Amino acid sequence: MSDAPVHVWLPGQAVSSLAGAFTLDARVSRFHYDDGYREQGGPSLAPDMPVSKSTHKIAGRDPIFPIMLDSGPDDWGHMLLERRLEREVSRLDALTLGPADGAGNIVLGHLTPERFETMSIEAFQAVLADLPEAQDPASQRHRERVMQSVFQGTSLGGAKPKLTLERNGVQYIAKFPERGDDPFLPQLELAMLRLARDCGIDACEAEVIEPAPHRYALLVKRFDRHAQGTGFARTGYVSAWSVARLDQHQEKREDQALLATRGFTPAMYARSYVALAGHMMRWCGGGERYRANLRELWRRIVFNSLIRNTDDHPRNHGLLCDSMDPHQWGLSPAFDMVAQRSAGIVPSHAMAYLFDEPTRGRKHAQRRLVSASSRADLLLAATLHYGYERHEAESVLDEMRGLVRGKWREYLISAGMPAEETDRYAKTLGLDFD
Ligand SMILES: Nc1ncnc2c1ncn2[C@@H]1O[C@H](COP(=O)(O)OP(=O)(O)OP(=O)(O)O)[C@@H](O)[C@H]1O
Ligand SMILES: [Mg+2]
Repeated sequence: MSDAPVHVWLPGQAVSSLAGAFTLDARVSRFHYDDGYREQGGPSLAPDMPVSKSTHKIAGRDPIFPIMLDSGPDDWGHMLLERRLEREVSRLDALTLGPADGAGNIVLGHLTPERFETMSIEAFQAVLADLPEAQDPASQRHRERVMQSVFQGTSLGGAKPKLTLERNGVQYIAKFPERGDDPFLPQLELAMLRLARDCGIDACEAEVIEPAPHRYALLVKRFDRHAQGTGFARTGYVSAWSVARLDQHQEKREDQALLATRGFTPAMYARSYVALAGHMMRWCGGGERYRANLRELWRRIVFNSLIRNTDDHPRNHGLLCDSMDPHQWGLSPAFDMVAQRSAGIVPSHAMAYLFDEPTRGRKHAQRRLVSASSRADLLLAATLHYGYERHEAESVLDEMRGLVRGKWREYLISAGMPAEETDRYAKTLGLDFD
C-alpha cells in the first residue's frame, strides 16, 4: 500500500492547493478530500468524485483514478525516469516522482523544486549548441543526452521524445522526430493541424523550429497551461484512455473466440469512439454542449480518415475543463494528427467509430464494430452516434474532403516541407475514399 498527496491547480491559480490523499492498493485504491479543501469549498476533481467527507474507492488491478492518470508519463517519460533513478519505476512512482509537467491540473506526490524546472527555448538551444559536434544530432542517444543533461525528462505521455519549453510566458511541447521517422515530420504535423483548423476542427496551435541545423522540431502550444502573473495556471485534462479506464482493460483469452465469431471484442468496444461518445455524456453534461462536442468528434474522425491517420488511439484524444464544473468538460484541442506515408489496403482507425446494430429489417445481420477509415458511406452511417443529421453531415464531409484533397500539398509546402518531399504523401493525402 502506498500513499500520495494530491495537488490541484484551481482555475486561474498559479499555485496549487492540496486536494486530498490517494492510497494505492493492489485491488481497491482510495482518495479522500482534505478537510481544509472541503471547508474552503474546493471543486470536485472529476464528475464522479463529488466533494464529501467520505472516501472515494476504485477497484481494479493497482487501480488509479482516471483524473490522476494523465499527470504521469507513458513510454518516453517512464524510460527517462527509470534511467535517472537507476531502478524500475512503478506506476505510482512515475506519478509521484516524475516532473510536474504532465497533462492537466493534478500532480501527485511531493512538490519538490526539481519537478518544476522548465527550460526556455533559448536555454535549450544553447545547450544543443554546446554539445560535441561529432554527435549525430539525429541519433536517439543525442536527444536523450540533451534531455537528461538539461532536464529531468517529462511526464507528458506519448512515445516520442519530447519536453516542455517556455517562451515569452507561453508553454509549448517540443516534439522531435525519432530515428526512422521522416525528418520533416514536424512540418507534416504542423500542416495537418492547420488543415484541420481550416476543416472546422479546434486543433492546437503549433510552429516548426530548427534547434540544430537541418534538424526540426514541432512546438505545440500547451492547451493546459496559461500565464498567470509570474507563474502558470493549469487546466484540467483527462485522456480518452483514462476516461475509459483502459489501464484496466486487457484482452482475455476467450475474447479470441469472440473476435472470430463476432468480429470484435469487449476491449475493442471499450476503446472505440462510440464508447468515448457515451463517456462524454458523463463528463460534458447533456444538451447542446454535449451535442456540439459529439459533432466535433465526428469531424475529427472524418479528418483522420481523410489524412489516413491510423494512429488515432485513445491517448490522442482528451477532455479539458477550464472551470472545474463537473459537467463542463469538452474535447481538448486536437493534437497528434499525422498522415501516414502509406496506407494499408483497408486502412483502419485505432478506435472503431461505428457500432452497427441490426435493425428490424435486417434480423439476421450481425452487430458490427467498424473502424475502416477509407469509407465515406460508413463515416456517414456513423453520424447516428455523433449528433449530425445525414444531409448536414454529407455537406460537411464533402467540404472537408475538397479541402484536404485539393490543398494538402499547398499546406505541406507552406509548413516548410521541401516540394520534392511532398510526393511521399501522395499515396495517402492524395487518395480519395474507396
Ligand atoms: N497542446 C497540448 N497541450 C497539453 N498537452 C498536450 C498537448 N498535446 C499533447 N498533449 C499531451 O501530451 C501527450 C503526448 O503528445 P503527442 O500525442 O503529441 O505525442 P506523441 O509522442 O506523438 O504521441 P504518440 O505516442 O501517440 O505518437 C498527449 O497524449 C497529451 O496527453
Ligand atoms: Mg500521441
